[in-house]
Amino acid sequence: MRYRILGSTGLRVSVIGVGTWQFGGEWGRTFSQAEADAILDKAAELGINLIDTAECYGDHLSEGLIGDYLSRHDRSKWIVATKFGHRFNKFLDRTEGFTAADVRKQLEASLRALRVETIDLYQFHSGSDSQLLNEDLWAMLLEQKGAGKVRHLGISILGKGSEAQAREAQRLGAEALQVIYNRLDRRPEQLYFPHAQQHKLGILARVPLASGFLTGKYRPGVAFPANDWRSTFESEKTRKDLAEVERIRQTELPAGMPMAQWALAWCLKNPAVSTVIPGCKDPAQVASNAAAAELVEG
Ligand SMILES: NC(=O)c1ccc[n+]([C@@H]2O[C@H](COP(=O)([O-])OP(=O)(O)OC[C@H]3O[C@@H](n4cnc5c(N)ncnc54)[C@H](OP(=O)(O)O)[C@@H]3O)[C@@H](O)[C@H]2O)c1
Repeated sequence: MRYRILGSTGLRVSVIGVGTWQFGGEWGRTFSQAEADAILDKAAELGINLIDTAECYGDHLSEGLIGDYLSRHDRSKWIVATKFGHRFNKFLDRTEGFTAADVRKQLEASLRALRVETIDLYQFHSGSDSQLLNEDLWAMLLEQKGAGKVRHLGISILGKGSEAQAREAQRLGAEALQVIYNRLDRRPEQLYFPHAQQHKLGILARVPLASGFLTGKYRPGVAFPANDWRSTFESEKTRKDLAEVERIRQTELPAGMPMAQWALAWCLKNPAVSTVIPGCKDPAQVASNAAAAELVEG
C-alpha cells in the first residue's frame, strides 16, 4: 500500500480506501456482519486504513456494521470518515437535515453507531450552497471539534457540482473535499483541484470506478435489479458511458491490465488526489482495488 497526507489534516491515508455505501443495501443486496467483517479484514491485511461511510447508508446501518467491526479490532489503526445532513427513510429516500440542531443529533447517532469516541473526518454530505453557508452549523461543528468528538471537517460536494463549496471550504474550517472523480468525469480538475491546491485541502475521489462501469464488466443493455440504485440510471446516459468505457478499454488500457486497477491508478496520477474510495462488495474486490496502489508512483 502507499499513503498520502490528506491536505492540512496531516492524516496519513492509504491511497486506496474503502467506500461503504453498499453496506446500506442500495446496491442490489444486503450485507451480514460476517460479510462486512471479511471486507474490512481484507482491507486491513492489505494496508488500507481509510473507511468512508455516511449517516444515510441505511439508517446508520453502514456505520453500525463498521462500528461492530471496530469494537472488536484496533480502532486506532483506522481513519473513519462519515457524513451528515440526512435521515434515511427507505430505498433512495432521505429527509434532509442540515441545521446545526439536526446535525448535532446526527453526530451523536453516528458516534453511537460507529462505537467510537471521535470521528476522524466529518463531512457535509452533498447539500446545497445555502445549506453549506450556514455560520451556525460551522460554529457548532467547530465546538464539537474542540470537544474532541470530531478531528477534522470536510465537504462532500454534490455530483452536479458547486465550485463555491470548494472556494469557501477553508474559511468554514473544512480541510478535505470529497468529489466525484474518475476517467469518465474529469470536471474536478478545473472546478475543485485548483482550490484544493491553493488551500491545502485533501481530495477523496469518490465513485472512482464510475459506479462499477470502469471495471469493464458491464456492456450496453445491462439491466440492474430494482434494489440496485443503478437501475434508476437514465438508459441513454448509461449507453453512452459504457460505449466510452469500451473506447477507453481499446485505446488507453495497457494489455493485460485489469481495468478497475487501471481506473483507480488513473485517478491517483493526479497529485491533487489524496485517496480513492471505491465501494467493494467482497474481499476479492478489495484485493483487486488495493493492488492498484502498486501502479501508483509517490
Ligand atoms: N455524496 C456522497 O458523498 C457520495 C456519493 C456516492 C458515493 N460516495 C462514497 O464513495 C464510495 C464509492 O463510490 P460508489 O460505491 O458509488 O462507486 P464506485 O466505487 O465507482 O463503484 C463501486 C462498485 O463497483 C464494483 N466494484 C468495485 N470494485 C470492483 C472490482 N475490483 N472489480 C469489479 N467490480 C468492482 C462494485 O459493484 P458491482 O460488483 O455490483 O458492479 C462496487 O459496489 C461510496 O461507497 C461512498 O463511500 C459518497
